[in-house]
Amino acid sequence: MSVAVLADPKIETPVPVARPNTVLSMQGVCKGFGSGVTRNEVLTNINLNVREGEFLAVVGFSGSGKSTFMKLLAGLEKPDSGDLLMNGQPIIGPDPQRGLVFQNYSLLPWLTVRGNIALSVNSVFKTWGKGERRDHVEKFIEMVGLAHAAHRRPHELSGGMRQRVSLARTLAMKPKILLLDEPLSALDAMTRSVLQDEILKIWEEERQTCVMITNDVDEAILVADRIVPLNPGPKASMGPAFTVELDRPRIAAELNHNDKFKGLRNAVTNYLVAVRQKSRDDEAAVSQSPQIELPDLQPRSLTLPRKAILNSTT
Ligand SMILES: Nc1ncnc2c1ncn2[C@@H]1O[C@H](COP(=O)(O)OP(=O)(O)OP(=O)(O)O)[C@@H](O)[C@H]1O
Ligand SMILES: [Mg+2]
Repeated sequence: MSVAVLADPKIETPVPVARPNTVLSMQGVCKGFGSGVTRNEVLTNINLNVREGEFLAVVGFSGSGKSTFMKLLAGLEKPDSGDLLMNGQPIIGPDPQRGLVFQNYSLLPWLTVRGNIALSVNSVFKTWGKGERRDHVEKFIEMVGLAHAAHRRPHELSGGMRQRVSLARTLAMKPKILLLDEPLSALDAMTRSVLQDEILKIWEEERQTCVMITNDVDEAILVADRIVPLNPGPKASMGPAFTVELDRPRIAAELNHNDKFKGLRNAVTNYLVAVRQKSRDDEAAVSQSPQIELPDLQPRSLTLPRKAILNSTT
């Protein structure tokens, strides 16, 4: 279910029908946190099918529930209702076949860059020889440009460097499904562009299924086959999918002059702007709705002696 341009965005989208090559599937998934008056309904009625080998980008505003969505796919959170499946089987917990790059890096503080990556490689490729595993680790350290810092611990790294370690650690595990939660958000533009190319290169070689969250529409168009917006929360739902009909390999510098790219960027951005405006209008309507009528009570004067307060009628 996809559209290229959307003139009149709607919050509700049709439920996608699962196709045979669907690898990840979410049907009617809802997720909230807390209980009672503090209950926060984060995601509601999420319907999504990710095809094998597809590169899907999810775009959305801060706090809308993107990381929650990703943690559900990774098996780190359980849905309150709905079906969450990988190859037709319920996702009941984390699995090395689904590698997640966390938004907040989540590195082990007592291990070096090399140690963090090696720990994952050693746990996944147990049958490989020592030398082969070591070379594999070094290849990914090199790839993210951290050879000079391989001996450093996370507290000795910048935010961007930590993000690169986190990315290398997950890529090195060669998961069948790559889940990337804003993997490049802490990087400067130059490093970001180098790593975008690296992610694309790896994906083009391996063609593993990839779901990436990003707040950058240009980045989403550069990497993805399909872009799905997450509408603003609370009760965030999925917007309609935008198909990226651009040939690969894609070169970021050339895309800026491509009419299809510019048209799609406008369509996605306009959708996001419209849906945010709608969410603000809905919020304003709720705050202007008739208030509960309060009883006409007068406060008692606390300056009077206690006995007088108790006896007073006003
Ligand atoms: N474990 C949790 N317990 C309670 N509330 C949570 C939990 N995790 C997320 N939330 C709430 O769910 C909402 C969505 O959070 P989430 O991290 O998924 O948003 P996000 O879209 O990833 O935001 P950002 O773009 O800033 O990373 C927020 O209101 C957040 O406070
Ligand atoms: Mg997040």
